Amino acid sequence: MAALLLAFRGLPEEKWAAPLSTSLPELEIRCWPDIGRRADIAYALVWQPERGLLKSLPNLKAIFSLGAGADHILEDPGLPDVPIIRFVDPDLTQRICEYVALHVLFHHRRMPDYLAQQARATWRELRQPVAGEVQAGVMGLGLLGRAAAERLKALGFSVRGWSASKKDIPGIDCFAGREELDRFLQQTDILVCLLPLTPQTRGILDRDLFARLRQDGPLGRPALINAGRGGLQVETDIIAALDEGILGAASLDVFEQEPLPETSPLWHHPRIVVTPHNAALTAPQAVCAHVAGEIRKIEAGEPPCHVIDRKRGY
Ligand code: NDP
Ligand code: OXD
Repeated sequence: MAALLLAFRGLPEEKWAAPLSTSLPELEIRCWPDIGRRADIAYALVWQPERGLLKSLPNLKAIFSLGAGADHILEDPGLPDVPIIRFVDPDLTQRICEYVALHVLFHHRRMPDYLAQQARATWRELRQPVAGEVQAGVMGLGLLGRAAAERLKALGFSVRGWSASKKDIPGIDCFAGREELDRFLQQTDILVCLLPLTPQTRGILDRDLFARLRQDGPLGRPALINAGRGGLQVETDIIAALDEGILGAASLDVFEQEPLPETSPLWHHPRIVVTPHNAALTAPQAVCAHVAGEIRKIEAGEPPCHVIDRKRGY
């Protein structure tokens, strides 16, 4: 019997095994490290798989990412030549939009300042601009970034977005490429990052970029929200920029090292909100429906959807 291998670093495969065997009764579900005969494995659903594992499966037909990003697969230099399919689902998009709306409103409504005042028992009203005066800038206008940008627009913010290729999205000022990055940043008050991690984007959220955000906007100092990947940000630069006043506050869902080490100064910085990479949790039922649907397509000889472009890296 052909098999589907589940291999997730740091996550319990068992939670996904039962619903997957209901959705795909024609496949045996095997959980890493009990992979049995490697030649039986036709599909693999993975999160941060061990390097070399996928190449060692001689009859693999496709690799599924447990998440929307596939950087955790592409970092393996020895991958087999089969499609890598990322997770795309309305449930995930809804969850990302909730996270982005929550944190943009948190910074817009000056909650970092009010929490600091509360700690000092200070009753003081701060100037509050309306949403339309504030520019939310979304880096990455893919499936998630575009949905988040449109949600922010619906909340009344002025919204701009930046991507690799130029977009035309009603009501949103769109910028593209490194040549338009400055123009995008110059008017941004709240920066939301939903970029994938690639060699081009690694470390893009650094001190130099923060200094190019609007420094005299209606909120005073700009805020950063990163729900893309930890490798996009330079954490020492975030702390330095907050301490120098180049950034006013930050919400971070992803980190250079995950789980975030207990010793990280990010945990205790008064102007940083830390969440444990759960901006959009991957719901097992949604993953099962997606994986089963794509496997059925492949078995029927149809091309799968949401295949990663290895050259672009996303
Ligand atoms: P997509 O692949 O649909 O979109 C990626 C976007 O980034 C595109 O608009 C692309 O531009 C843009 N982009 C890529 N490289 C560059 C570059 N060098 N310069 C400018 N723009 C660039 O991805 P999704 O929207 O589905 O997801 C984005 C990321 O969100 C994922 O890769 C993942 O890392 C992260 N994520 C995080 C989650 C969490 O829980 N924190 C949950 C889910 C995803 P173009 O459109 O022109 O190609
Ligand atoms: C991710 C996800 O790619 O959780 O981070 O989907």
